[in-house]
Amino acid sequence: MTSTSVRRHKATGLLVLLAALVVTGIGYTAVTTTAEAAPTAASQTQVDAGRQLFLQGCATCHGLAAQGTGSGPGLIGVGAAAVDFQVSTGRMPLAAPAVQAPRKPPSYTAEQVSALAAYVASLGAGPAIPSASDVSTTDANLAEGGELFRTNCQQCHNYSGAGGALSDGRYAPSLMRATPTEIYEAMITGPQNMPNFTDATLPKAQKQAIIKYIAHLQQAAAPGGLALGSYGPVTEGVVIWVAGIGALLLASVWIGAKVR
Ligand code: HEC
Ligand code: HEC
Repeated sequence: MTSTSVRRHKATGLLVLLAALVVTGIGYTAVTTTAEAAPTAASQTQVDAGRQLFLQGCATCHGLAAQGTGSGPGLIGVGAAAVDFQVSTGRMPLAAPAVQAPRKPPSYTAEQVSALAAYVASLGAGPAIPSASDVSTTDANLAEGGELFRTNCQQCHNYSGAGGALSDGRYAPSLMRATPTEIYEAMITGPQNMPNFTDATLPKAQKQAIIKYIAHLQQAAAPGGLALGSYGPVTEGVVIWVAGIGALLLASVWIGAKVR
């Protein structure tokens, strides 16, 4: 084997590499351009699909044109975020008139939820579904989130996010299952008794800090082992009282039995 053939070998490797790069580049451009072009093409179909779903599942309460009826509020201008929140947390469609729509497993697929949201958004401007960068907490400050949570959310949702009762049989739900997107949507749409936290009251960076704090609450293992629902000192007191006194009683019975 001569040195030229070896060199040619190396050159072939380089050429193959270059060719692969060019092919990948062209392929990538083709794929991304189609992906970017897709939403505009799909969105009218999406709105139409959403309208069909709306007529079947929501119009009885919200009206044929989402104008509202006696059984449900008008949805013109509530925005895609409200629909995404209500439908993906299973609150809507409401099964029967109730004081408050409970969280339950969603009745629609993610694709159907997007279609419903697109349809309602097409009726009037309202808050859009937050993007991945809106709910990103990489740059958020956890300690600031804790402070903001205690000032803005704790009075209803409990210091640990466990939720709590409100007046007239209503309640602020536990935050342990809410995803970052749902938390953001709850803040910008203010479902039911919850206030609406606009960007003027709570700028995006502060919302992200709160999301980071709630995520921390969701992950945090109770330092003492059992969290007892994180309802605070009363439950903890009751448990230690019952368990402690119970153990003392058992011990005295046992001692008494040994003497006899
Ligand atoms: C049985 C009646 C009923 C049905 C069916 C129903 N809704 Fe509702 N919807 C309500 C009521 C009542 C409220 C107000 C709930 C509350 O305040 O707790 C509401 C609230 C909402 C809201 C919140 C509005 C706001 O101002 O933020 C949205 C969004 C919504 N519904 C979307 C839908 C969609 C989409 C469907 C169909 C998949 C649907 N609903 C089906 C009765 C209904
Ligand atoms: C005045 C009381 C009140 C305050 C303050 C409040 N909320 Fe709520 N929140 C509620 C109520 C009531 C609901 C349930 C709405 C419904 O069921 O339609 C709710 C629902 C939620 C949900 C949906 C939970 C789920 O699992 O579906 C999230 C997330 C949430 N709130 C986050 C927050 C955050 C974050 C703050 C502070 C920035 C906050 N809330 C402040 C009353 C409150």
